[in-house]
Amino acid sequence: KSFLFRLWRGDVSSKMLNPRLQKAMKDYLNANKHGVKFRGKQNSQLTSEQLFCELKARVKIRTIDGEEAPFSVLGWKKHVPQTSLNKLYPRGFGSCAVVMSAGAILNSSLGHEIDSHDAVLRFNSAPTKGYEKDVGNKTTMRIINSQIVTNPNYHFVGNSLYKDVILVAWDPAPYSSNLDKWYKNPDYNLFTPYVQHRSKNPNQPFYILHPKFIWQLWDIIQENTKEKIQPNPPSSGFIGIFIMMSMCSEVHVYEYIPSIRQTDLCHYHEHYHDAACTLGAYHPLLYEKLLVQRMNTGLKEDLYRKGKVVLPGFRSARC
Ligand code: C5P
Repeated sequence: KSFLFRLWRGDVSSKMLNPRLQKAMKDYLNANKHGVKFRGKQNSQLTSEQLFCELKARVKIRTIDGEEAPFSVLGWKKHVPQTSLNKLYPRGFGSCAVVMSAGAILNSSLGHEIDSHDAVLRFNSAPTKGYEKDVGNKTTMRIINSQIVTNPNYHFVGNSLYKDVILVAWDPAPYSSNLDKWYKNPDYNLFTPYVQHRSKNPNQPFYILHPKFIWQLWDIIQENTKEKIQPNPPSSGFIGIFIMMSMCSEVHVYEYIPSIRQTDLCHYHEHYHDAACTLGAYHPLLYEKLLVQRMNTGLKEDLYRKGKVVLPGFRSARC
């Protein structure tokens, strides 16, 4: 429990993780499978306002728009939605909820509060049915990784989880953001099912995140962390928090920084236990959380009891 208390204060390092997680982090650093070459400088002295304003100024949401090769050559201009994600809600949302899939949300009774927000973001295959009391039932947007789109176990085609919501998919690309290399060798080939889904559901907003956006987020995390972080993309959770900060005037994030209910249960909807889900192995999740903790403007009491962090939206902040 002392780790949790320290995380709430933003006072933890990877040295405090269990040896298995430390070993996993080290192995990812050595493998550097996405060819990360960090050229920025480390600057962990920023105040929370400065950090917030860095994020706002330096990171721009970008999706594949068919303007660049190889997508331009492959005729993707007609596959992607005509309205870009930035322009989908030109006036933005008021208050938004980001609902993490952590097991700790079980028995939270947060469902009602979550559904009271103007927009709700969920991740991957996290269901609402059967869990309404704790997670609510409203879904405005879903961020999905490329495994969801490609692995038949998730029934991406046909599963109602992925209908009537804005879909935002991503796949780890080389740090260079070389789109040719990525297209030829994605982690999971989401490109073919994306085009199929677009042609069958032309009215559903469905985007693929641009690797440049994902790696810009990674750069900010590394710049503001004293330790070397895993050279792998940030988690869907961090990507989602940023997207909602761009679209909403206020963002309420649930069970990202764990509440007092913290558990090794990976997801509220599965029986699998692994501390890596909350603290990170592949993703630089611990460092993402430390950044989010630094920017929290919500009540400490809400963090402890609800696992809730409140962040201002970019439009409502003076930078
Ligand atoms: O596991 P999955 O990526 O689908 O979960 C969605 C997001 O929720 C993660 O990317 C991570 O940011 C967050 N999460 C967490 N703790 C967990 C499980 C998920 O912080 N135990």
